[in-house]
Amino acid sequence: MTLLFVSTLMLLFPLVEAARPVVINTWPFKNAAAVAWDTLQSGGSVLDAVEKGCALCEVEQCGGSVGYGGSPDETGETTLDAMIMNGDTMEVGAVANLRRIKNAIGVARAVMERTEQTMLVGESATMFAENMGFIAEDLTTTKSMNIFSQWLKGNCQPNYRKNVVPDSSKSCGPYKPSATLKQSNRTQHANPNSHDTIGIIALDQDGHVAAGTSTNGLTHKVPGRVGDSPIIGAGAYADSSAGAAAATGDGDVMMRFLPSYLAVELMRAGADPSTACETAISRIKRHYPQFFGAIICANTTGHYGAACNKVPALSQFHYMVSTSEMDTPLLKSVDCF
Ligand code: GLY
Repeated sequence: MTLLFVSTLMLLFPLVEAARPVVINTWPFKNAAAVAWDTLQSGGSVLDAVEKGCALCEVEQCGGSVGYGGSPDETGETTLDAMIMNGDTMEVGAVANLRRIKNAIGVARAVMERTEQTMLVGESATMFAENMGFIAEDLTTTKSMNIFSQWLKGNCQPNYRKNVVPDSSKSCGPYKPSATLKQSNRTQHANPNSHDTIGIIALDQDGHVAAGTSTNGLTHKVPGRVGDSPIIGAGAYADSSAGAAAATGDGDVMMRFLPSYLAVELMRAGADPSTACETAISRIKRHYPQFFGAIICANTTGHYGAACNKVPALSQFHYMVSTSEMDTPLLKSVDCF
C-alpha cells in the first residue's frame, strides 16, 4: 500500500525531471542544425550529432568563418581550430592551427578516440590527421586569396600586432619590438560582420551530453594564433551531470574567462541556462565592455538559453534549436545586453 502510494506520488511529482533531447547551435546555420538533429533522431550518439553538424559547416564554409577558404592569416593561409567533448567521460579531442585538412572536427574526434592526448596543433596535427586517413589539401580559395591580396595592398592593415614597428619601410612585417609599450585599445573583432564559430551542444533522452566547435579563426591573424574554439572550457564544455555551453566571438578575449566552463558550473549550482549564459558574458564585459561575443547554454533537462554582449555589430544573437516538439530546427534570437 505504502509502495503504491510512493509510486503514485513519484509519477505525479517526479523528483528528477527527465532529459528532453535538444540540439542547439550558434548562429543561424540551419543545415548544420538539421543534420545534427537528424543524426540524433536516427540513433546516432550526441558525439555523432555534434561532429556531423560541425562537419557540414566545414563543407558549407558556414558564414565564411568555418572551414576552408576563410580567415587567411598574415601569410594568406587558412588554418582551422576545432574541439569535441564527451560529457559522460570528460574526454576531449582538439586541434588547433590545423593546416591543409578540411575536416577539423573529424580530426578532433580522432584525437579523442585514437590517442590518449587532448590537443594536437599545427603541422604535427596535420601529420596525425594524414596518418588517420584524412586527405591533405590546400585550404586556400579565390575568395581567401582576394582577401589576402587586398590586405597586402592596404599595407597589411588592420592587423593584430601591437607595440611593434615594421622592420622595413613597408607597413607589413617582419616586425620588431618598439621601444615603448603602450596599452592596447583593442575594442572589437576585426570582422564583426562575419559570423564566427559554429558551436553545437547535444543532449539525448538518456542524459548524455556533448559539445563541440569548429572555426577558421580570425582574418589576418598572426600565424600560429589559436582562438578560443579548441580551448576546453572556453570554446565549449560539456558535463553530463550539469549541462553544456559553447561560445562564439572574439576568442583572444573570451578564452581568458573560460565562459563555457563558467556557464556549466553555474548550471551545476542551480542557475537556469539563460542566467548562466548572461553571467558568463557579464564576467567578460566587466573587463572588455566592447567585446564581440555570445554563448549558448543547455542544462541536463534540455532547458536552454543564450546571451550576447551588445555592441554596434551585435545587438541580437541568432541561434538554432531542435527538439522533439519541432518539425524543423527553429531559429531563435536573444537581445544582447
Ligand atoms: N571564436 C573564434 C576565434 O576567435 O577564433
